[in-house]
Amino acid sequence: MAQIIDGKKVAEEIRVELKIKVSKLIQSGKQVPGLVTILVGDNPASQSYVNSKSKACSEIGMLSKIEKHTEDFSEEALLKLVNSYNENKDYHGILVQLPLPKHINEQKIIEAIDPAKDVDGFHPVSVGNLVIGKNTFYPCTPYGVVELLLRYNIPTEGKHVVVVGRSNIVGKPVANMLLQKKKGANAVVTVCHSAAEDLTQFTKSADILIAAIGKAHFIKADMIKEGAVIIDVGINRVEDQASKKGYRLVGDVDFAEVEKKASFITPVPGGVGPMTIAMLLKNTFEAYSRINSGL
Ligand code: GUN
Repeated sequence: MAQIIDGKKVAEEIRVELKIKVSKLIQSGKQVPGLVTILVGDNPASQSYVNSKSKACSEIGMLSKIEKHTEDFSEEALLKLVNSYNENKDYHGILVQLPLPKHINEQKIIEAIDPAKDVDGFHPVSVGNLVIGKNTFYPCTPYGVVELLLRYNIPTEGKHVVVVGRSNIVGKPVANMLLQKKKGANAVVTVCHSAAEDLTQFTKSADILIAAIGKAHFIKADMIKEGAVIIDVGINRVEDQASKKGYRLVGDVDFAEVEKKASFITPVPGGVGPMTIAMLLKNTFEAYSRINSGL
């Protein structure tokens, strides 16, 4: 039976570590890190994410603000708003919640954020720096994956990591992070996707399998190697009449069968999910530190 990787517990540890650092700033009368989260429109999932991010910030003593705007907020107005926060000395991190309404060019908005405040790590400058191994902001979910491996002392050096999924938010950045020649990385990385002719040929050779596909229970026991480490980034809704909401959340991995064959596995919920917000807080603290040290 696999050991469960408890993302909820690790995320809490990180929040406590950051809370101590913020308390020290408060005690010495210094400014605290600030995060502004910008939400356009009324997508319920986005509203819930933004509220959770803001609450997590406040709970550890950081400054937090939500900028909520209606669906008809123009691209020009959003660019102006982002620029105003680029100049604002109270906020060190800027997060524009995605997806944005169709009339707004998402990439244009991402590129308007000052890379020094890009706590999502989505700006092309951040992406480029990640690829060439320069200091940057790592996107929060992949950063959470790498942090879990590190805190569970799971070796990555020389190991075969297979990433299934090539999104800009998870697949591509996690592959690039684990490829870096440094501690907690230095892996041999393969990135697979829906066009693979024989996906199982790749997944079966993985020492560490990272599933970021977006399909419920896609990874089955016969697709993995005995003793593999399984990281499930998927969050999928499946119908469940027994639940009050009528649905429950499951990962991209068929947990019940895969846990019997794996050495480590992340559950859904409670695995990678809680790490995303913890890493956002870490990035915001990092942005504050870099801005204040003039880096
Ligand atoms: N929408 C879904 N995930 C994310 C994320 O990590 N950052 C932002 N800004 N929007 C998202």
